[in-house]
Amino acid sequence: MDEVYQIEMLNIDKHFGGVHALKNIDFRVGKGTIHALVGENGAGKSTLMKVLSGAVQKDNGIIKISGKEENINSPHEGKKCGISTIYQEFMLAPHLTVAENIFIDKLTQGGKFIKWKNLRDKAHEILKRLGFDNIDPNVRVSELPVAYQQIVEISKNLMNDNTKVLVLDEPTAVLTFSEIEKLFELVRRLKDEGVSIIYISHRLDEVFELCDKITVMKDGAVVQTVDADQIDKQALISSMVGRELSTLFPKRNAKIGEVVMEVSHLTSGPMVQDVSFAVRKGEVLGFSGLVGAGRTETMRAIFGAEKMEAGSIVLSGKKKTFKNPKQAVHSKLGLLPEDRKQQGVILSQSIRINTTMSSLKKIEQFPGWISDAKDKKKAGEILEQLQTKYDSLEDPVSSLSGGNQQKVSLAKWLAADCECIILDEPTRGVDVGAKVEIYKNINDLAAQGIAVIIISSEMEEIIGMCDRVIVMRQGKIVGELEKEEITENNLIHFAMGG
Ligand SMILES: Nc1ncnc2c1ncn2[C@@H]1O[C@H](COP(=O)(O)OP(=O)(O)OP(=O)(O)O)[C@@H](O)[C@H]1O
Ligand SMILES: [Mg+2]
Repeated sequence: MDEVYQIEMLNIDKHFGGVHALKNIDFRVGKGTIHALVGENGAGKSTLMKVLSGAVQKDNGIIKISGKEENINSPHEGKKCGISTIYQEFMLAPHLTVAENIFIDKLTQGGKFIKWKNLRDKAHEILKRLGFDNIDPNVRVSELPVAYQQIVEISKNLMNDNTKVLVLDEPTAVLTFSEIEKLFELVRRLKDEGVSIIYISHRLDEVFELCDKITVMKDGAVVQTVDADQIDKQALISSMVGRELSTLFPKRNAKIGEVVMEVSHLTSGPMVQDVSFAVRKGEVLGFSGLVGAGRTETMRAIFGAEKMEAGSIVLSGKKKTFKNPKQAVHSKLGLLPEDRKQQGVILSQSIRINTTMSSLKKIEQFPGWISDAKDKKKAGEILEQLQTKYDSLEDPVSSLSGGNQQKVSLAKWLAADCECIILDEPTRGVDVGAKVEIYKNINDLAAQGIAVIIISSEMEEIIGMCDRVIVMRQGKIVGELEKEEITENNLIHFAMGG
């Protein structure tokens, strides 16, 4: 039977300078189908979607929407054809409010009289429909946690009434299970309305839970397209990485020793209330909780990036107060920040500079301090190990795929000389093969006697990697789990306050 596809992309080809990003791709999506697009970092997933939405110009190939060939040469034309895209990198205006961002297209059309109250009410309505009436439409986007920024991004796209295709490029990377459930409900509702959804994710469990079809890409080409119920996770992984991956979580042989850092009665704003905990040599301590639980804020306060109002920190036996991140780094405390785009990498700078950062010690916020030549060499090696895909070390980080940017921001920290290192969502957006390498690196750090703290929204990762887990909720520690107690049920129970 000849199916009429909602979208057909045929013979799509694209080069970026010396990089052949898309090699003669054929990609078809049926109406009312949730179609996953998976593959390693740099495989070409985002580029293919940018070609579809008009954000990137293809060198060659044709695009048909509902059987009719369309010329999509700009995002505007993409929208006119019914293509709504939620990009991996948000496209929000940080200085504008939530409501203004949601209606940005209407606001920038001009020639219209704007009723601000209407705008806010409508924005509230949309957020409510999504299940997020706790987001205030009047707040500036820059003041929202990353997860809520993501929700605003989604709301903005739902303003496009003629959406035929919704592209979600790693929408859950910044969300935790409770927001993910809401997002999935919404996606399923859209599917029932006949919208086709293209879903890019490195979280394969989600792919199986949500998607009807899966297309695997590798090195700019399509490897295969299958029905989701015709393949299992193991087979999908091998098809993505081109080899068998037996264990996702490698074994760690670290001896847990004396306390390296002890935090007592830390308070900093509403999100950090009387937080006390300790982490030991060789230990991997997890922080779990919902978005907005205060995990990131806690770590930023410890690190001197946020003001400490009360409490104390003892690091390697000495009482410390860090007025800024530079002082923390100097005392051998490290923090890989959650918000990579603003704090983790300098997008316009080269991969080499971002990896070594030696010339950037002067930068106040989050210096990626690599102290000597040995560390630089190590950072380079870690980039290699993580199979970071780039053309030249001199290219700007902005030319890398999302996951490869993440590898750059991580490499320098994994190489840095720390006694305690805090990793806020270390594997966000990273492909499954590189995840295993990151886990091995974390295990190595622990084996060297470094205390490691991981904040992660991926439950599988918390369960697979941590010796002990602290659960936060609304700025407070609400639970602590050890060894066999670290289960999905227990984590949800504490996080939800059950
Ligand atoms: N604007 C650009 N300039 C130069 N090269 C680019 C540009 N955008 C993408 N590339 C390159 O094209 C290739 C595919 O990148 P793409 O972003 O599509 O990967 P991806 O599959 O989305 O990966 P990830 O899972 O990491 O997001 C990569 O080698 C990337 O470096
Ligand atoms: Mg991408």
